[in-house]
Amino acid sequence: MTAATITTVATTPFADQKPGTSGLRKKVPHFRQPHYVENFVQSIFDALDGFAGADLVIGGDGRFFNRETIQTAMKMAAANGFGRAIVGRGGILSTPAASNLIRVRGAFGGIILSASHNPGGPDGDFGIKYNASNGGPAPEKTTDAIFARTKSISDYRILDAPDVDLDAVGETRLGDMVVEVVDPVAEYQALMEKLFDFPRIRVLFAGGFRMTFDAMSAVTGPYATAILEGALGAAPGTVINGTPLPDFGGHHPDPNLVHAKFIYDLAMGPDAPDLCAASDGDGDRNLIIGRGIFVTPSDSLAALAANAHLAPGYAAGLKGIARSMPTSAAADRVAEAKGLKAYETPTGWKFFGNLLDAGLATICGEESAGTGSDHVREKDGLWAVLLWLDILSARKQSVLDIMRDHWRTYGRNYYARHDYEEVAAEGANALMAGLRGQLSTLPGRSFGALTVKSADDFSYHDPVDGSDSAHQGVRVLFEDGSRIVYRLSGTGTAGATLRVYIERYEGDRLDLETGEALKDLIALSRELAGIERHTGRTEPSVIT
Ligand code: G6P
Ligand code: ZN
Repeated sequence: MTAATITTVATTPFADQKPGTSGLRKKVPHFRQPHYVENFVQSIFDALDGFAGADLVIGGDGRFFNRETIQTAMKMAAANGFGRAIVGRGGILSTPAASNLIRVRGAFGGIILSASHNPGGPDGDFGIKYNASNGGPAPEKTTDAIFARTKSISDYRILDAPDVDLDAVGETRLGDMVVEVVDPVAEYQALMEKLFDFPRIRVLFAGGFRMTFDAMSAVTGPYATAILEGALGAAPGTVINGTPLPDFGGHHPDPNLVHAKFIYDLAMGPDAPDLCAASDGDGDRNLIIGRGIFVTPSDSLAALAANAHLAPGYAAGLKGIARSMPTSAAADRVAEAKGLKAYETPTGWKFFGNLLDAGLATICGEESAGTGSDHVREKDGLWAVLLWLDILSARKQSVLDIMRDHWRTYGRNYYARHDYEEVAAEGANALMAGLRGQLSTLPGRSFGALTVKSADDFSYHDPVDGSDSAHQGVRVLFEDGSRIVYRLSGTGTAGATLRVYIERYEGDRLDLETGEALKDLIALSRELAGIERHTGRTEPSVIT
C-alpha cells in the first residue's frame, strides 16, 4: 500500500451548483474551472451520512472529462472515508448498469457521470449525478441538501495520490480505500439473462432474424455487442457505432427521429432489418423501429406492458403500470383491460422510484423515449430492446403485426410531440401564463368538432410519500378523449423549449397517417396558446 496523505483544500462556493432533473449539468469548460468538480463532489458527501467504510459505485458514459472526474471522485471518496470504490473498467458504466451495480453490491450509493443525450467533447456537456442505495436518482431532499452545501462550502478533502489504472480489472488501493475495477457489462448481462429467455432469442437470431442497433458511439456499445452479438448470436455488425467515443463521434447521442435518422431510413428502406433500435449517451433511452413502422415511445410502453408476461422475468404479471402525464394514455388502456392500476406522474423518472420501491408498479415509461421496470431504478434502453426481442421471439410475429394487433385490441392513441426549441424565455413564460389564465373558461367551449371537457395545470400527489408537485403542465382534455398538453422543458440549456403533446384516440380507424389524424388538434394547439404571437414561430423545430 502506498502511503497517501489527505489534503484539505480551501475553496469558495460557486453560485450555480443546483442539481436539476438529472444531477448537475454544465458545459465541459464550466466543469473544468478550478475546484468546480471538487466543490460539488464534497457537497454530495457532506449532504450524506453514515458512509464510513461503505461502498461507492463510480462510472460514466465515457464522454470527454469522464476519466479525469472519476480520478478526482475516487481520491475524494478515499479522503472522505469510503471503504471501497467500485468502478467500471475504462470508467464506463451505463446509467442502468450503475443502478444495478449499486443494488447488487449493496453499495451506499453511486456517482454517475453523464449528460445523457446531450453532445459531448471539450465544448460539449458534462454532468455529475448522485444515486442512492436503491439505485435511483437521489430524492429531492438529498439534492436540496447538496445544493445548500454548495453555497456554504469552504474546503474539500482529497487524497494526494497518483491516478489509478482504470483499464485493468482488479483491486488496488487508494489510501485506506479499496478501488475495485469491474467489467462494466458482467453484472448487467447477468440481470438481463434472468429477466429474458436468452435461448429463445438465440433461436430467433439463428433463424435469420436481422437487427441493427445504433449505439451512437456512446456507452451502450460494449453492452449491446456483448449481449446481442455475443450471448444472443446476432450477426456481427448488428451493433453499429459500438465504440464509446469521448465526443460521440461529433454526434448528438439522442435516439430520436432527427438524430437517429439513419436508423429510421434503414427501417423504412427496401432492405430493412426486422428490428432497428438505438440508445442514448448514457444508455437509458431507447428507440424502437420495426420494418416499416416507428413505434412511438408511448405505444412501445403499452405494447411492452401488454406482452411482458411472455418474458420469464415478468411471467407472474405486472403489479401496475406508470407513465408520465404527457405520455399517451395507450398504456392506461392496457392497464384497464388487465385490471391493473395505472399511475400518471409528472415528467421525470424520479417520480417512478417510489412506486417501484413500494411495489405498486412494475413497468414505467415516458414519451421522451424512456422505458423501464422494477429491475433497476433508472430507465433502461437495452432492457427495452431485449424485452421487445423476447416478445418477438415468443410471438413469432413482426413488430408491425404486433402493433396492428395491439391497436385492434386496445384502439390507437395517435400521438405527436411538437417542440419549439430555443425560444425566448419571456415569450414562453407569457404563453404558459396565458394558458393558465384560460383554464377556467375553456371547459364547454367548442372548436370545430372538438369540445373541451376539462382543463387544468397538472399536479401530482405521491401515493407513497404523500408529497405534492404542482404546475407540472397544462392539460386541455376534449370530450372525445383527445388531449393537448403544454409544458416547458426542464432540461434545455439554451433559452426555453416549449413542448406541445398532441393526442387523439381512435377505436376503429387504425391506419391513419399520424399528421393527418392530428391535423385539427395541431392547428388548435397553436391557436389556443398563441404560439406564433408569443414565440414568433409558425412551425415547431422538431416533431417526434
Ligand atoms: C430527462 C429525464 C426524463 C424526462 C426528461 C424530460 O431525460 O431523465 O425522465 O422525461 O428529462 O425532459 P424535458 O426536456 O421534457 O423536461
Ligand atoms: Zn440518458
